[in-house]
Amino acid sequence: MTRSVAAAIREALLECDPRAKVMATRKAARDWRLDRLSFAFDVDMPDTPGRPDAPELLPPNRMPKRGKGGSERGRIALWHALAHIEFVAIDLALDMAGRFGREMGETFVGDFLAVAADEALHYALIDRHLRLLGSHYGALPAHDGLWEAAHKTRGNVSARLAVVPMVLEARGLDVTPATLERVKASGDARGASILQRILDDEIRHVRFGATHFADVAERLNEDHDSLWKALVSRHFGGAVKPPFNDSARLAAGLSRDLYGSLACS
Ligand SMILES: [Fe+2]
Ligand SMILES: [Fe+2]
Repeated sequence: MTRSVAAAIREALLECDPRAKVMATRKAARDWRLDRLSFAFDVDMPDTPGRPDAPELLPPNRMPKRGKGGSERGRIALWHALAHIEFVAIDLALDMAGRFGREMGETFVGDFLAVAADEALHYALIDRHLRLLGSHYGALPAHDGLWEAAHKTRGNVSARLAVVPMVLEARGLDVTPATLERVKASGDARGASILQRILDDEIRHVRFGATHFADVAERLNEDHDSLWKALVSRHFGGAVKPPFNDSARLAAGLSRDLYGSLACS
């Protein structure tokens, strides 16, 4: 009997070791693409994914300040923070596909498994970069808040899509170009090319989120923009932070009309 896609996703979610999670995620995405998994949801997704013993996870307000300096320590802190974001992003994409795949259909599952495979690659590229800088993922504490948005929206696919790809990942489009410029200016060409690749991929991730959100709004017969605003207010405290990368957001299918009205100053 063919294995279910849910079982493959659940196994990757529960993996604690980062390298094993990367491998299990890429395998699940590949097996789905090659039609080796059935569209079946016979197991539930875990409430909490597997995590390695390190990094220590701290509440965001207890994180040591990273500073802006170009020191070796500052560079390592930057790449470590990015490694953690990509590591949690693997679980966010897996959980999206595994938790909501049954109601959303096969294209949705394929889209978010492809996102999970991208995040696994992003994580692996950054971890290798960190090692070349003499550190590794787990060497510093990381903040604990990233999974929270997923947990809060576990009961509702429209809320999950509104918050995770359309607010959190879209925020990545806003902040990455400035980080990329800083990294380039410091002479780190390899780091800059990793960030460029991530930025290109993240536009596609946000677009998947926006496309499937539009489908859900239509299915519910709700006004797209009002539904998004209501969900972001309810599940994300309401305001999104400028400055916005309008061109990348537009390429991802987010119009200024949509997020502009929720912008805090
Ligand atoms: Fe990513
Ligand atoms: Fe992403």
